[in-house]
This record gives sequence, structure tokens and C-alpha cells, in this order.
Amino acid sequence: MSLNDKIANELNHFLKIITYKDNAEADESLSKSDKEKSISLMRVNASGEVSAQALYRGQAFFSKTPEVKQHLIKAGDEEFAHLEWCTKRLEELGGKKSFLDPLYYAGSFTLGSVAALIGDGASLGFVEETEKQVVEHLRRHLKEMSPDDKKSREILEKMLEEEEIHGQEAKDHGSMDLPAPVKGMMTVTSKIMTTLSRYI
Ligand SMILES: [Fe+2]
Ligand SMILES: [Fe+2]
Repeated sequence: MSLNDKIANELNHFLKIITYKDNAEADESLSKSDKEKSISLMRVNASGEVSAQALYRGQAFFSKTPEVKQHLIKAGDEEFAHLEWCTKRLEELGGKKSFLDPLYYAGSFTLGSVAALIGDGASLGFVEETEKQVVEHLRRHLKEMSPDDKKSREILEKMLEEEEIHGQEAKDHGSMDLPAPVKGMMTVTSKIMTTLSRYI
């Protein structure tokens, strides 16, 4: 594939992700407060999956070895399934995706690209740390979400399981341990994103 085709491919993927819709039927089974809580949490998770997509795509685009590239594309496809589940549930609850999603995509793609340009070890270290932080945040969401919202909980539990596997796979492919300040910066960035997506 020529460079122009690769870039066109990435632009198409960007459009596919930020315009993704499900047209799901409304679910009126929850109380107003439970529903509002779940909407804000599922919006955060949908944005997280948009970012995960972009991160993996950016990393795969600049990855130096075919094996790692293949792994990143496979993990990215699984993140797309997560985005489908979160979007569907958000629509059922009557919520909207964050309008900041295009920004998250662009930022995460850039981050993924930079990590991959440093090297596959750093790139995989980045995946491992990201997935670890995602797992911690999903656990917090499960504590915060109403026990009555079984459908959303089921999605979060399944995602949690798969994000743990993504982290382990990154380790198995030779991830490098990132310096503590980088990890700290990642925590701060994700805190800003998850806070913003709760509201907008
Ligand atoms: Fe995910
Ligand atoms: Fe993941």
C-alpha cells in the first residue's frame, strides 16, 4: 500500500469512528438518577474506546516489526467492539457521545505515533500502562454504577476482562517499563479526559 493510500485509510477510519452510531431502542427500565449516572459513565467509556482505537492505530501505523503491528491491529479491532457496545448502551439510555471525541482521537493517534517512533518496546510499554489504568478506572465505574443497570455492568465487566488481556499481551510482546514521570503524565491526561467526558 502506498503512503497516500495508508493516509487515506487512516482518515477513513477516523471518520468511521467519530460518526459511529447504532440506532438502538430506548431502555426505560432504570430510575432517573441511575440512568443519569450510567449515561455519564458510559459516555466516558465510549470516549475511552475512541481514544484506544486511535492510540492503537497510531502505534500500528509507525510500528517497526510486522508481528507487533499485527498485534496492535488485532487489539485495535477488539477496542472497536468495545466502542460498539458502549455506543449502543449509551443510545439505549438516551445519552449522547462526547463532542470532544474527534479531539481525543487526534490526540491519541499522535501519542500512539510518537510512542511507536521511539520504538516497539516503548510503544508496548505505553499499551501496558494505558490498559492498566483503564482496568483501574473500569473497576471504579463498576463501584459507582447502580447494581440495577445490569446491561451496562455486563459490558464493563467484559471490557475489563479484555483490557487485562491487552495489557498482558503487550507485556508478552516485550513491553518496556515506562519512566515514572511518563506514567504520572498519563494518569493526569486520562483524569482530565474522563472528567470532561462525564459532562460534555
Ligand atoms: Fe477497550
Ligand atoms: Fe484494550
